[in-house]
Amino acid sequence: MSKERLTVAVIGAGGKMGARITDNLIKVEDYELRLVENSPQKKKDIEAKGLELSDMSITVEVSDVIILAVPDTVIGKVSEQVVPQMKSGAVLLTLDPAAAYAGLLYDREDITSVVAHPCHPSVFGKYLTEEEHADFFGGVAAEQDVVIAKYSGAEDKFNAGQEVVRNMYAPVGAIHRITVKQMAILEPTLAEVITCMIGTVFKESLDETVKKGVPEEAAKAMLYGHIQIALSVALKGTNPFSDACMVAIDHGKEAIIKPDWKRVFDDEVLDKVIGDMLHLKEPINH
Ligand SMILES: NC(=O)c1ccc[n+]([C@@H]2O[C@H](COP(=O)([O-])OP(=O)(O)OC[C@H]3O[C@@H](n4cnc5c(N)ncnc54)[C@H](O)[C@@H]3O)[C@@H](O)[C@H]2O)c1
Repeated sequence: MSKERLTVAVIGAGGKMGARITDNLIKVEDYELRLVENSPQKKKDIEAKGLELSDMSITVEVSDVIILAVPDTVIGKVSEQVVPQMKSGAVLLTLDPAAAYAGLLYDREDITSVVAHPCHPSVFGKYLTEEEHADFFGGVAAEQDVVIAKYSGAEDKFNAGQEVVRNMYAPVGAIHRITVKQMAILEPTLAEVITCMIGTVFKESLDETVKKGVPEEAAKAMLYGHIQIALSVALKGTNPFSDACMVAIDHGKEAIIKPDWKRVFDDEVLDKVIGDMLHLKEPINH
């Protein structure tokens, strides 16, 4: 007996995430996929891939799972438009916790709302093929974990949404079930405020080193190798830092890191960062 086909909609299908997840979801035979996009250029890009576009209102009324792949700044407004038209029992899936955390997601008692964010392939992952090595973002060849949270609704519908998440971010390893608040601590605080920020400091440091007259290739070789060894020592304890290195680390912390930097984990800082990311006029007040 064939399984009943699930109607899955991607709203914002021409965007960065929309295009990525569409590429994975079209491979799933059990899904009737509907793509919605409002930018004329992105519509052309979707059609150029040989894919068909669907009308927003009809799509929303017939879909079992609706993925909002629109910018976080408009998720509140788009959910206000979409959620009242959804069929009872359907699942709304968002790809970032910001709007849910800020209380901007329009909700309804008889739908289930799920947030799922990709972790991206781990720096400590095992990548065997060229394709896996090249897939830094994930969703193509390299396995990545996913974090998922239920914002509201029924557990069986959450499970159906989770299955779509496994397919749209494939190949997926572990799926970590957490709360929306915990996801907000991961993204933006851990992932963006800290980790992405430090990534940009690495790039600026490389530029400064080259300005000092060090040949660029030598600087890159030292930086890339030391990123790997610093992460493996600090996060995996593969071997200790040398005594001299510990002296240098203390100098770096004193010169670069503010003594109270862990305030970025305070709730009011999280509220401020998310409020700024969403361009909110009123502060978030939890
Ligand atoms: N870009 C990333 O690396 C990344 C990673 C993880 C999660 N996310 C999340 O994915 C979501 C989408 O982000 P993105 O970076 O792909 O955004 P994007 O700006 O690249 O794409 C958004 C798309 O939505 C379309 N759109 C906007 N309003 C629409 C509407 N009313 N109807 C139909 N289409 C509409 C836009 O035309 C655009 O094509 C966000 O929640 C974001 O936080 C993004």
